Amino acid sequence: MRHPVTRRARRQDLVIVGAGGFGRETAEAARAAGAGWRLRGFLDDNPALHGTEVDGVPVLGPAEAVHDLPRAKVVLCTVNPRVYTSRSELADRLRLPDDRYATVVHPTAQIARHAELGHGTVLLAQVVVTARAEIGAHVAVMPQTVLTHDTEVGDFATLASGVRLGGGVRLARGCYLGAGALVREYTTVGQWSLVGMGSVVLHDVPPQEVWAGTPARFLRAAAGAVGRVHAPAPLP
Ligand SMILES: CC(C)(COP(=O)(O)OP(=O)(O)OC[C@H]1O[C@@H](n2cnc3c(N)ncnc32)[C@H](O)[C@@H]1OP(=O)(O)O)[C@@H](O)C(=O)NCCC(=O)NCCS
Repeated sequence: MRHPVTRRARRQDLVIVGAGGFGRETAEAARAAGAGWRLRGFLDDNPALHGTEVDGVPVLGPAEAVHDLPRAKVVLCTVNPRVYTSRSELADRLRLPDDRYATVVHPTAQIARHAELGHGTVLLAQVVVTARAEIGAHVAVMPQTVLTHDTEVGDFATLASGVRLGGGVRLARGCYLGAGALVREYTTVGQWSLVGMGSVVLHDVPPQEVWAGTPARFLRAAAGAVGRVHAPAPLP
C-alpha cells in the first residue's frame, strides 16, 4: 500500500522490531515526531534483551509478539551491511497485513508533496526528497540522504547516511547503498546488490553483486542475498 506523506494527527501505539542501532535510531525519530507515536517498546529475537530496557525503551519480547499487540503499528528495523536481507525475512515470517505497518518520518525530513512512501518505511533526520519520487515498503533511509526527482526505490532497500541519488535513479528491491554513495542520474542498482561506502556509481549495477570504489566496479557476488531474488525482477 502506498500513500502520500502525511503527519499523524493523533497518537498511535508503535512497536519497533529490532533493538539494535537502526531500531534505536527509529525510536528517536518516533519520539521526535512528538504527538504522532506512543512508543510501546522494542521486540527483539535476542532473549537476553527481553525484560530489559534499551535507551530507556522496554524490550517486550521476540518479534512474534507483534501478534499479541494487535492495536500497535509495527516497523521492522533490522539492518547491517553484512546481513541486509533480514527485514524481508522478518516480513515473510510475521505475515502481517500491510496496514499493520507504520511509516515513520523524522520531523526534520523534507519530503516533496508528490513523493510516495510505502508501509513500514523509515526516513531518519534530514532526509530530503526533492520532487516526485516513489519509495517502496520497508525501505530504510538514514540521515542526510538526498533523493532527487523521479527516483524509484524498491521494497526493502537500505540507504545508509549521506547517500545522494541523481534524478531518475532506480534502486531495485533489497539493495544496500553504503554511507556516502553517489549514484549517477538514470542508473539502476539491481536487486539485493550492495554499493560500498563512498562509491561513485556511473553505470548500472546488476542484481546480487557488490560494487565499490570511484568509479564503482564489481568487487564480488553478494553473499547472503541468494534466494531473495524475486523473479522476474520488478522495479521498484
Ligand atoms: C563494500 C564492502 C561491503 C566490502 O566489504 P568486504 O567484502 O569485507 O571487502 P574488504 O573490506 O575485504 O575489501 C575488499 C577490497 O575492496 C576494497 N574496498 C572495500 N570497500 C571499499 C569501498 N567502500 N570503496 C572502495 N574500495 C573498497 C578494499 O580496499 C579491498 O581492496 P584490496 O583487495 O585491493 O585490498 C564494505 O567495505 C562497505 O563499503 N560496506 C558498507 C559500509 C557502510 O556503508 N556502512 C554504513 C553503516 S550504517
